[in-house]
Amino acid sequence: FSMKYLLKNGTFVSGDQMKKADVLIENEKIAKTGPDLNDPEAVVIDVTGKLLFPGFIDAHTHFQLEVAGTVTADNFDTGTRAAIKGGTTTVIDFATQYKGETLEKALENWHMRADGRSSCDYSFHMAISDWNEQTAESMEHMMEEGITSFKLYMTYQDMILNDHDIFMALRKMKEIGGITGVHCENAGMIDALTEEAKKRGDLGADAHPRVRPDGAEAEAVNRLLAIAKEVDIPVIVVHLTCREALDVIERARNSGQTVFAETCPQYLLLDESFYERREDGRNYVCSPPLRKKEHQEVLWEGLRTGKIQTVSTDHCSFTVEQKNMGKDDFTRIPNGMPGVETRAVLLYTYGVGSGRLTPQQMCRLLSENPAKLYGLYPEKGCIIEGSDADIAVLDPEGEDIITARTQEQNVDYAPFEGIKIKGTIDKVFLRGCLVTDGGRVVKEKQGKFIKRGPHML
Ligand code: URP
Ligand code: ZN
Ligand code: ZN
Ligand code: ZN
Repeated sequence: FSMKYLLKNGTFVSGDQMKKADVLIENEKIAKTGPDLNDPEAVVIDVTGKLLFPGFIDAHTHFQLEVAGTVTADNFDTGTRAAIKGGTTTVIDFATQYKGETLEKALENWHMRADGRSSCDYSFHMAISDWNEQTAESMEHMMEEGITSFKLYMTYQDMILNDHDIFMALRKMKEIGGITGVHCENAGMIDALTEEAKKRGDLGADAHPRVRPDGAEAEAVNRLLAIAKEVDIPVIVVHLTCREALDVIERARNSGQTVFAETCPQYLLLDESFYERREDGRNYVCSPPLRKKEHQEVLWEGLRTGKIQTVSTDHCSFTVEQKNMGKDDFTRIPNGMPGVETRAVLLYTYGVGSGRLTPQQMCRLLSENPAKLYGLYPEKGCIIEGSDADIAVLDPEGEDIITARTQEQNVDYAPFEGIKIKGTIDKVFLRGCLVTDGGRVVKEKQGKFIKRGPHML
């Protein structure tokens, strides 16, 4: 059961246009769009002056993930409430195979975490940490379960795959038609630099970016693309941070390879001086690290020109207390930052509001492209007759200040604390259900698991 709604006089945003129209929502779907719609049974909502985006998709979250001897602060309860508050109606979280475990077991674990608790729709990528014959066969089962994307890590002791395993996993991927996102950083360089830093007693958060230089990212991207070229398969570079890595991707594209890239708000808006300047620099420790300021405009330019296809959050949150585990040793700081709640308003304020992006481009980056890339389109990622009635109603005149005091995210700090927002999320519909109203979550746990199809971007 869901209500019938008629949204009057809004401006629809799609990947290529903006159009004034009404929309009728019925049975979880977009029933009709067009001028001057009427329906005596529908609840009419006036959305004059508002922008209607297809519900945003966050294809990179880590909820209830065990890392560094602790577990992320947000689980599916809190993380997805934060998502719908911020206009995100679908998350794709990283179900993670722990070493020695099957992919089936990992999938079961993630269903247990998410089912019945999620306030937005959800799916999982399958992160592979243990490559073997069984894993290869399990990948086929994942495809049957609607898990059509996978994640490989080129760093982190618990997750790393070597070149042999990456090559074999991509071979299998080609056979089954899956798509692969890869965390690209050269582990050997990072280990060596970390050992040196420790020897010097260089243990503050400011050492974190020094042991993970952009060259380590670019090298890993280059190696990944060499392997992918040999296998002849498209790949996705997740959380791209810097010019050097983007240059490597562009070179591969110019030689005919298909490569997709994702970046995150923290790399567009924050920079490595935070580690040095701020006493709480550890709260900004994530991997790859924040970079020098000059990379930010490179990334914005990448978004504008279509060289970077998606903006996700890499939401991987820890409380101040958890971050404090690494107060005296940066290698013990759990890596990651919260962000699932604030992505759209940040992209609107600093992208659209500052003239760097059009609303259509924002729609592509946050909705249409991830929907296509991850096999959710056209149920998700667009507002057309028959698609899921997932709509983020954005008030371009709405103002707000980001603060930890009012956030849904289960963390006691906000990386964007004090930042002024122009353009707020007023209402959110999830498959026709009004879940956020006046910027507040009004209905929770309405999310369902979405089986995905093959990628199509
Ligand atoms: O620091 C980060 N990004 N933590 C989350 C795991 C990952 O690397 O994506
Ligand atoms: Zn089988
Ligand atoms: Zn990563
Ligand atoms: Zn991540």
